Amino acid sequence: MAFPERFSNLPDYAFPRLRKLLDAHPPGGAPIAMTIGEPRHAMPDFVGPILAANLAGFGVYPPNDGTPELLSAISGWIARRYGVTVTEDRLMVLNGTREGLFNAAIALCPEMKAGKKPVILMPNPFYQVYAVAALTVGAEPVYVPATSATGHLPDYGSLPQDILDRVALAYICSPANPQGAVASADYLADLLALAEKHDFRVLADECYSEIWRAAPPPGLLQIAQQQGADPERALVFHSLSKRSNLPGLRSGFVAAGPECMLRLRQLRAFAGAPLPLPLQKVAEACWQDEAHVTASRKLYQAKFAGADQIFAGLQGYQAPDGGFFLWLPVEDGEAATLKLWRETGVRVLPGAYLSRDAGGQNPGKGYIRVALVAPAEETQRGLSQLRDCLYG
Ligand SMILES: Cc1ncc(COP(=O)(O)O)c(C=O)c1O
Repeated sequence: MAFPERFSNLPDYAFPRLRKLLDAHPPGGAPIAMTIGEPRHAMPDFVGPILAANLAGFGVYPPNDGTPELLSAISGWIARRYGVTVTEDRLMVLNGTREGLFNAAIALCPEMKAGKKPVILMPNPFYQVYAVAALTVGAEPVYVPATSATGHLPDYGSLPQDILDRVALAYICSPANPQGAVASADYLADLLALAEKHDFRVLADECYSEIWRAAPPPGLLQIAQQQGADPERALVFHSLSKRSNLPGLRSGFVAAGPECMLRLRQLRAFAGAPLPLPLQKVAEACWQDEAHVTASRKLYQAKFAGADQIFAGLQGYQAPDGGFFLWLPVEDGEAATLKLWRETGVRVLPGAYLSRDAGGQNPGKGYIRVALVAPAEETQRGLSQLRDCLYG
């Protein structure tokens, strides 16, 4: 039996690759995990009681798109956070952003663009679901360098005209995983203008939007409204995984223009897995509460301040504006990861596991990604060991 050709060039996922690289070697000290972007701050304390009070909800099929109460809580949060009104019919609940980012490509990418195979743009390095989504729908993924030369965001406007005319969808991630760059209001406005000029949609992955250092990052919804952009150009994805330290809840949402939303909802009605009702109840309470988000953000801000001290003076160190990763320059990411593990037990991710060779270059190769998710003391200890081992 044959298997689909379109996935034949996919590398192994980052974490099995990392296990292959490291697990044959004993750690050089007590292991400290700084690999996966899994938040480890406390989840809100109301989660348990709400879940317990709503157990009966597991006995019924949940509404596909989200309960009216949850959609209203999300709409309220968007209004408070971005000063934008997004009515409930332009929102849909997701099982986390990853699922939504993937399914949006299936629902929205046309078979042809400008009479040719469509292109889906993504930053390089990037969150890997963007590439798999492009391959799934038979589009050509175009990996656009997001390096220090471009402020760690992709410069889509610099692409040749013939590529831009074939673009159906463009993914953007702000704050960016892995680099922590935040797209400015001007960057987002330019991107929407480019989308208008070349007739494509922007899929904004904003799942780290609430983890920032100096100021809340602007959101695409806000910029689209300010600019009077066609609402069909902008799709925005948010999650409770990072905001509320609930990666296991599998809960997020997408906001989109009415036409796009009809198609997203139609696909979900046929093939989606709706979020169980008790979990929708928990999600509703999370979007209505900011206190737990503020408390968690403060913990990240303290860890970033600690990182700034530890890496002060290190050539190429750039304090991230948001998210919870450090993106640290090294000579070779895999070699540095292995050395660090064997000499100290600190476990990080080679940057190249998040990037692709494109145009003869791999922009992740000379980096490691370090997640600041562990408690402050453990994070501090891990970072000090990392500095001494790799930059000492
Ligand atoms: C950039 C980015 N987008 C999306 C996700 C998916 O998050 P979730 O599906 O938990 O909302 C992650 C998770 O690590 C991520 O880093």
